[in-house]
Amino acid sequence: ETPMTRFKDELLKIKSSEECKDVAGFDNEESAVTITVVGASGDLAKKKIFPALFHLYYEDCLPKHFTVFGYARSKMTDEEFRNMVSKTLTCRIDKRENCSEKMDEFLRRCFYHSGQYDSEENFVELDKKLREQEGGRISNRLYYLSIPPNIFIDAVRCASSSASSVNGWTRVIVEKPFGRDSESSAALTRGLKQYLEEDQIFRIDHYLGKELVENLSVLRFSNLIFEPLWSRQYIRNVQLIFSEDFGTEGRGGYFDHYGIIRDILQNHLLQILAIFAMETPVSLKAEDIRNEKVKVLRSMKPLLLENVAIGQYKSHTRGGITYPAYTDDKTVPKGSRTPTFAAAALFIDNARWDGVPFLMKAGKALHTKRAEIRVQFRHVPGNLYNKSFGTDLDQATNELVIRLQPDEAIYLKINNKVPGLGMRLDNSHLNLHYAARYSKEIPDAYERLLLDAIEGERRLFIRSDELDVAWELFTPVLKEMEEKKIIPEYYPYGSRGPVGAHYLAAKYNLRWG
Ligand code: NDP
Ligand code: BG6
Repeated sequence: ETPMTRFKDELLKIKSSEECKDVAGFDNEESAVTITVVGASGDLAKKKIFPALFHLYYEDCLPKHFTVFGYARSKMTDEEFRNMVSKTLTCRIDKRENCSEKMDEFLRRCFYHSGQYDSEENFVELDKKLREQEGGRISNRLYYLSIPPNIFIDAVRCASSSASSVNGWTRVIVEKPFGRDSESSAALTRGLKQYLEEDQIFRIDHYLGKELVENLSVLRFSNLIFEPLWSRQYIRNVQLIFSEDFGTEGRGGYFDHYGIIRDILQNHLLQILAIFAMETPVSLKAEDIRNEKVKVLRSMKPLLLENVAIGQYKSHTRGGITYPAYTDDKTVPKGSRTPTFAAAALFIDNARWDGVPFLMKAGKALHTKRAEIRVQFRHVPGNLYNKSFGTDLDQATNELVIRLQPDEAIYLKINNKVPGLGMRLDNSHLNLHYAARYSKEIPDAYERLLLDAIEGERRLFIRSDELDVAWELFTPVLKEMEEKKIIPEYYPYGSRGPVGAHYLAAKYNLRWG
């Protein structure tokens, strides 16, 4: 660490705190914000929500009068709840001395109420406790539904009927899955809208909160050099790749009902595609951005079964260790055909993208963990170096890679001359490598999204018409696959996935990056 990086860190720190103070009503004496995590005993709450709330608190990003409430059926006292939450907290940001002090302060703001998700009476009891904490201030309430989707509507009905005393805002964060096809998604939306206005519903897709997804628009719209290339004229294909090097461990029951297309392609990868391909929005306001996303999604051609390849991982032994098959999971029905891998080729039928394949690929239990956007550019027309030196100069086409995780980076592959008296070409990276460029750690997606929800910023949340059109795209092919009982191609745990994905890319004369 040099004095310069320390100084830069301090500046960044000051800036983020000040930004938070400006927007989150940080110093507001008159109003209180309570964040109720419904399903507080669950996996997501422990893994993501409590750590994210603590980091926001640590960064001085939560309002002065905030309280965190856990709500679930499990019986716990406030003390037991604090004990549970404390085990989930880490001093991620840095190891400054006051971290454990900050943890204690945060935990003192945490309370718990045990109740059923469909009991108005239990939510009335919760309401009473919330009011005690609000202390007569303007009450702003954020509910985070971290529960299985079949109980979303009951919980919203009970929370809204008991919230008689709310004189500020009420917002509800809804976790995916938002249904499993067009019909069930529409039914969920109708159910929620019985009790909430659209602007109270914050449908979370945590990929939109990832730093590099946020940076995608900055890259496109604040640099002169990318936007002119952002079309069929220069881009040959775009690849959206998600892979995990572990299976569905522990979530097989949930997963088997949905499969990888609903779990990753229909939401995370399609959202990235929409941001990648949308036209320039009128402004950075939520509705302007979401209007453009809907427009591009509505321009997509129907997804054909012949443009989809699916797979499922099977058991594999490597180095004396046997890795399980998907169907070895006790919560997965024997003989399940649910895909744990899918690749798809999608097309946007508009002037900018006509004919450009957008290839998506997502899989569990593959050889690596990564999420990337790869933009492969066309060949240089009339390439002078090919003409003069023949094919032995074998140049690669340019490729822009946006690595969302791990080890975040944006790099552009270019051709350059190897230094020396001869003429040899090389392929090098112009690399914005985050770890080298910024010493500050990148916030977790849930931190950004929770802060946005507290601030009422909807830009990174999914509007209901966006959701409808996303389901319209995937529902027919999902139904066809189920009707035709398509059998996934089996691939070994820890491999690169089924060869079907390579055939799919080859059909468009492409290779996966
Ligand atoms: P859990 O299965 O851990 O459920 C959360 C809590 O809900 C449990 O602690 C339990 O609390 C209660 N609950 C569980 N099953 C039932 C049931 N059948 N009926 C009533 N209550 C039940 O879920 P997660 O925390 O994993 O996920 C929460 C939500 O977030 C889900 O919608 C999930 O799809 C979504 N999600 C989860 C991710 C993850 O990584 N875990 C990632 C992305 C989305 P109690 O028994 O104390 O009431
Ligand atoms: C969730 C999926 O939405 O995203 C999981 O349901 C997946 O199956 C997870 O593991 C991946 O998120 P991340 O942020 O770890 O890449």
